Amino acid sequence: MRVRRFLPSSLGAGLFLLSLAPASRATTIRGTVLDSRQSPVANAAVWVMDTAAWPRHRALTDAEGKFTLSFPGPDGVGVRSRPAVSGFQLDKPGILFVEVKALDGRVCKRETLAVGAGNWRLDNLRAFANGLPKGTWVVECRVGASKWTRKVVSLGKDAGHPKLVAIGRIPAAGRATEIAPIGQILVRKAGFEALSLALPSSDTALSLTISDGRFEKRIDSVMATMTLADKIGQMTQGLYSIRSLSAIASNRLGSVLSGGGDPLADYNILQAQTQSTARKIPLLYGVDAVHGHAKREGGTVLPHNIGLGATRDTALLRRLGENTAKELWAGNADWAFAPCLAVARDERWGRTYESFGEVPELAARLGSAYIKGLQGDAVSTPWRVVACAKHYLADGGTTYGTGTTSSAAAQKILNEGDARISQAELDSLHMTPYLASVAAGVGTLMASYSSFNGVKMHAHKALLTDSLKTDFAFDGFVVSDWLAVEQLKGTFSEQVATAINAGIDMSMEPKRDTLFISTLTALAGSGGVPQSRIDDAVRRILRVKFRQGLFESSERRTAWDTEIGSVEHRALAREAVRKSLVVLKNDNTVLPLPKTGKTISVVGTHADNAGLQCGGWTKVGGMDNVAWNGAAGVVQGATSILAGFKSLAGASIQTATTGADVVVVVAGEQPYAETSGDKADLPLPAQAATLLATAKAAGQKTVLVLISGRPLVLAEAAANADAIVAAWLPGSEGAGVADVLLGDVAPVGKLPMTWPASIAQLPINIGDAVYAPLYPYGHGLTW
Ligand code: BGC
Ligand code: BGC
Repeated sequence: MRVRRFLPSSLGAGLFLLSLAPASRATTIRGTVLDSRQSPVANAAVWVMDTAAWPRHRALTDAEGKFTLSFPGPDGVGVRSRPAVSGFQLDKPGILFVEVKALDGRVCKRETLAVGAGNWRLDNLRAFANGLPKGTWVVECRVGASKWTRKVVSLGKDAGHPKLVAIGRIPAAGRATEIAPIGQILVRKAGFEALSLALPSSDTALSLTISDGRFEKRIDSVMATMTLADKIGQMTQGLYSIRSLSAIASNRLGSVLSGGGDPLADYNILQAQTQSTARKIPLLYGVDAVHGHAKREGGTVLPHNIGLGATRDTALLRRLGENTAKELWAGNADWAFAPCLAVARDERWGRTYESFGEVPELAARLGSAYIKGLQGDAVSTPWRVVACAKHYLADGGTTYGTGTTSSAAAQKILNEGDARISQAELDSLHMTPYLASVAAGVGTLMASYSSFNGVKMHAHKALLTDSLKTDFAFDGFVVSDWLAVEQLKGTFSEQVATAINAGIDMSMEPKRDTLFISTLTALAGSGGVPQSRIDDAVRRILRVKFRQGLFESSERRTAWDTEIGSVEHRALAREAVRKSLVVLKNDNTVLPLPKTGKTISVVGTHADNAGLQCGGWTKVGGMDNVAWNGAAGVVQGATSILAGFKSLAGASIQTATTGADVVVVVAGEQPYAETSGDKADLPLPAQAATLLATAKAAGQKTVLVLISGRPLVLAEAAANADAIVAAWLPGSEGAGVADVLLGDVAPVGKLPMTWPASIAQLPINIGDAVYAPLYPYGHGLTW
């Protein structure tokens, strides 16, 4: 809709300015993006974010730095009107009187405006009050002969910019309306600081000036001294456990990871080695902290993402991200390969538990909150780590039967497969979380092993470079996945050229780091990879290192040791467990269970086994290098579900099945990771079904607590359970399960995935034309 401004000539525009804009359901924003020299910036990404910081509408600036964004509202952004305050509605033209008074009633400013029929809002009151000293003022309005309405506001010269000041209901010509601008504009461009401002409520022509990136000059000076070998080293990530520390430094590796193995112990020495090289570029040490710093013995193990998806709680996710960052920081890591933003569309996929759920909103909102937690506030947070949104793109959208695997024993199902879907589905389902993560400032992205319509993501220039780096103005770097480059077609040299030219900036080379270096060096010499591409990759890597503060200090944080597995972190993880539980069924209100007066058996394979409740990517005590797939066993510092029950209701809890009033069967999946988790069937283990059937036949009340990374097909076992609770993979704080089941806290979790009635229904997702699941997406009982 058109902007309309009323500047009554009788009073003179210079005296004050009160702008009125029509309450509109459509918004158009035009503007120009300029750099600090006031030159236009082309290809800047301009995004409109909703109130939850989720990108809704976007545009790129043209060669003159101009952009136009038009969108209908309100859809979480734009201009929303609702019956309330701060605006008014006229069915015929009228006269608006506005006065600003001091608290003692003295009139300091007065305005009379002729206003047309329609919905109106008052804004720009700061300009209206211009000239008044900063302070508290009373704004009064009336339309025509109506009564004055008053609102006490903070106004004046230095009072900031009240975007919209509520001035109260104006009863003149019908209902008053509040018409508030909702959301933010975000401007991004590599090499500049991101700019965020409140969405203007009308189509003002904006002039947006973005400032030079804080570190770009320093990056220039580091790059000016770098040789080709230095640069290619930066683009290489090695596996620390197969290289000597001195080889890591002398090969000038940009990064090391520990993969599924134990965390690196010699960080200090390693960083010290980098400081003895000519360029002194610190390296990034990356860890798969996919549910807390779970590979560190004694670390707090969070529920896997699927459980966090059930919480729907972005504030919780942010705090969990902060705590994980503190543990990683204390554990000498700089970089978490998390969060996984997969939108898992078929739970036969072995990585379903790494996904927040089957709809993009979950990964977008929860993933972004977690990223902000991990990365902290780049200026004032000492413990921040670099986050990594993965696996770009559509890892959770592959088509059944296209899976690839290196293991002959595993079935060819979904993992690392091909997403045979339309571009529209790719955009709407899988891209959204990445837009949100880029908007949240994520430092790195990991490419997916999978393909999009036959093209491997590691070779997908249109998605890696054109979409991500150009359209979305992502200014961090893209890391390849573990040995993924060598899954591309051709010789190793062709594979490297394809991946780097497509937009991979750093290659994860656990086995062939030195070969990668020599290969890329040859390609740079022959022009197979242009120098400009290498420079762009290195600039991105250095930018992330500067932002992470590594150039200021890569010293160790021994003083932070107490963060690892701290009481406070465990308490928050326990809260996350409580909020992640989804009560699927509760016949005859068997839940919550009484703490006293009844005997409760807590039995089943998963009742007293922290390793099983943590699942994959967890360090299980006493075992070497099992952190990748996880295992049954003891997790240092963890509380099993049984121990949790005992801590709350010790006298009532037993472990023999017979003789109890209630039998709680805790059962589910054995741990797995990635392809080993691809399963054609998802049955409830027979032993659990038998326990339930026996208890039911004995006239006992039955509760099934499922420990699984995804919905299982319950079949007839469901009928033998009076109550069913999906506890997902809750991690180290098993007591959170007892908190809910014993009634201390009411359940709030909602299904992040549709729960199928049979395996034949898969894949099944909310929105399907045929949809008759056992429990729908979003289901979750409470009391
Ligand atoms: C996984 C990634 C992980 C990487 C490093 C790969 O197999 O796909 O998610 O970050 O290994 O351990
Ligand atoms: C590593 C994991 C990696 C996997 C991929 C394992 O040995 O520890 O990090 O994701 O291999 O094949």
